[in-house]
Amino acid sequence: MTRLIFLGPPGAGKGTQAQALAKSCHIPHISTGDILRQALSARSPLGIKAQGYMDRGELVPDQLVQDLVEERLNQRDTQAGWILDGFPRTVSQAEFLDSLLQKLQHHNVRVVNLDVPDDVLMTRLLSRGRSDDNEEVIRRRLEVYRGDTTPLIGYYGDRQQLVFINGNQSLEEVNAALQKVVAS
Ligand code: AP5
Repeated sequence: MTRLIFLGPPGAGKGTQAQALAKSCHIPHISTGDILRQALSARSPLGIKAQGYMDRGELVPDQLVQDLVEERLNQRDTQAGWILDGFPRTVSQAEFLDSLLQKLQHHNVRVVNLDVPDDVLMTRLLSRGRSDDNEEVIRRRLEVYRGDTTPLIGYYGDRQQLVFINGNQSLEEVNAALQKVVAS
């Protein structure tokens, strides 16, 4: 049973790798960023509430994201496993997730941290060009990551749940490292 959380800064390759791995494992890839962008393009109440935060490169309030993750993890297809990409991003989201997974009896969760140097992240994101991929917003996303999300490395590291992967390699090499984690 594969239950994986992907951590890593913006541009580390979380989305790219999580999508490929989920496909090969036949399990859902749950990306809070993708769900929020879909809500935004549908102009749903969630998307409207999230838009300003996303445009500025800030985190959307915990409660909004926690509600959408709870709804998604309660769907039947998660019984076979899942990959969470972009959640949790704060210690309070991680605590929320712990209690949700306890309630759902989803155990044996592992956490993968993709490491990539800042200059490489910036180059990747500027060449991708999503609407939040301009230099000013990328800098803010990186600051928010350092401030709010890096404490999760200690949070999961203390429980021996964390695996570090060098994300500054070819897509194939990163994928191979992830396949090893899944197989172990
Ligand atoms: P989100 O969509 O999660 O964005 P992010 O964390 O900034 O991550 P990215 O999608 O930019 O990067 P990635 O690591 O997925 O890399 P990717 O594979 O795309 O979040 C967006 C916003 O939503 C947040 O700012 C926030 O407002 C909100 N949000 C989301 N979750 C939230 C939460 N839990 N709480 C609160 N707010 C939340 O790759 C990037 C590029 O690099 C691609 O072009 C790719 O082709 C390329 N690339 C990837 N790997 C490699 C490689 N090995 N070699 C060369 N190029 C590569």
